[in-house]
Amino acid sequence: MAKSRPKFPRIAQLKTAESFAQHLSKIGADLPFNETLNNTGQSIMNQPFKLKSGRVIGNRFCILPMEGWDGTLEGRPSEMTKRRWHNFAISGAKLLWGCEAVAVNPEGRANPNQLLINEANLDAFKILYNNLIEAHESKFGTTSDLYIGLQLTHSGRFAIPDEDRKRKPKILYKHSILNKKFNLPEDYPTLTDTEIDTLVEDFIKGAALAKEAGYQFVDIKHCHGYLGHEFLSAFNREGKYGGSLENRMRFITSIVDGIKATSNIPVAVRLSAFDWIPFTKDENDIGVPEKSPNTYSEAFGGTDQGLGIDLSEVFEMIGYLEKLGVEMVCITAGSPYYVPHIQRPALFPPSDGYLPPEDPLLGVARQIQVTHEIKRKFPNLAIVGSAYSYLQEWLPHVAEAVVENHMADFVGLGRMVLSYPDMPDDIINGRPLTRGKICRTFSDCTTAPRIGMISGCFPLDPYYKAKPEAVQLKAFKKNSGL
Ligand SMILES: Cc1cc2nc3c(=O)[nH]c(=O)nc-3n(C[C@H](O)[C@H](O)[C@H](O)COP(=O)(O)O)c2cc1C
Repeated sequence: MAKSRPKFPRIAQLKTAESFAQHLSKIGADLPFNETLNNTGQSIMNQPFKLKSGRVIGNRFCILPMEGWDGTLEGRPSEMTKRRWHNFAISGAKLLWGCEAVAVNPEGRANPNQLLINEANLDAFKILYNNLIEAHESKFGTTSDLYIGLQLTHSGRFAIPDEDRKRKPKILYKHSILNKKFNLPEDYPTLTDTEIDTLVEDFIKGAALAKEAGYQFVDIKHCHGYLGHEFLSAFNREGKYGGSLENRMRFITSIVDGIKATSNIPVAVRLSAFDWIPFTKDENDIGVPEKSPNTYSEAFGGTDQGLGIDLSEVFEMIGYLEKLGVEMVCITAGSPYYVPHIQRPALFPPSDGYLPPEDPLLGVARQIQVTHEIKRKFPNLAIVGSAYSYLQEWLPHVAEAVVENHMADFVGLGRMVLSYPDMPDDIINGRPLTRGKICRTFSDCTTAPRIGMISGCFPLDPYYKAKPEAVQLKAFKKNSGL
């Protein structure tokens, strides 16, 4: 029997403000947008932002961290990595959140080609940083208002550290759904408190190396199901890293304390502010929640049913981070491994995903609204939002309205910079968008690494279009009916 596919209007079809507004109202998406853009080069997106510490960031665009699965096996950047970072530097954005996830030890790599920060690779990280500075300076004339961070990570449950490409998860507790979903045996071990103490030291060391390489802040990654994020849902873990929120936050607070006592580089946190029960496919390949044997209780920022949002602990956590001196928080959601539709809304799913169970605009609106609630609660923190790429032609209209209405301080761009690196520069200068470069969320940038390949924008970036991997990817998608 033929499968019935969900039909959502393409953004490019919603050509007028009226049709966009009508569609938003029809699906119940609460999204602000400005009908017309300020095309005189005076966009609100070009206003500087002052952090509590006094540092000024030149405008309201942020480039979100974007990995390419394209480093060397030693964890150093390749030419492809350097090209991607170059594109970040010439985008026009003045906040580069972390460039990409960089592992603090070899076992913590999400793939064998993930960057790795250690003494041996320090010079490579210095070069990457200097390249960013030179590229930005030569296009924009100054870097005094550019703020560059490095995202430090351990991939935890989703570690694939070695060339054999086998999953070698490091988990904090036996998850009621994810252990089974990723085929872990019943007796799969959890990290011990002593092992975690060592990991804390790895992050502190990584931060010191990042500072030595030139980076101005580090992001201690707490999102997308990776280790930092898993701590926050370790409700049922015994010992000092599990149970109460204070214990679940001990990982981040120990890292922040350790960094303060050593390199003292500023710390920022990228946080999955809500999470849902893992999804799977139904008979039509559409995303549906996995069946939970009991009440689902493993979602940080979620509710018992696994499909709601409860920010009370999130507020508590961010309040604590603020007290610790954290100045910037980047809001994201869920995980690309088990709830991609809430994390990176897309019309076309990646190979390990499912057809969208909702209009992807609802996913965009959900992240924007949650970010707004957080901004309202923490007016003195710099709050960065994510998941804007699906807005496509409407991205600048929503971005300006969000910043104007103080719903976030920065608009973060992820997939869009892969296809259209200079979009921020075009918006800031009031230039019309180049349609052929707008990301249409084909998810090739996610599918390629899921099958062990490099990531990039295969449909739209001529550099990746011309690569042999583009042909392989096309064949793979055809064979798998994607
Ligand atoms: C290919 C790819 C690589 C990514 N790499 C990272 C990463 O290294 N660190 C991170 O925090 N998020 C990463 N993300 C998530 C993005 O930063 C962002 O949250 C997500 O794509 C949603 O934003 P968008 O709608 O602008 O794409 C990645 C996403 C994609 C598609």
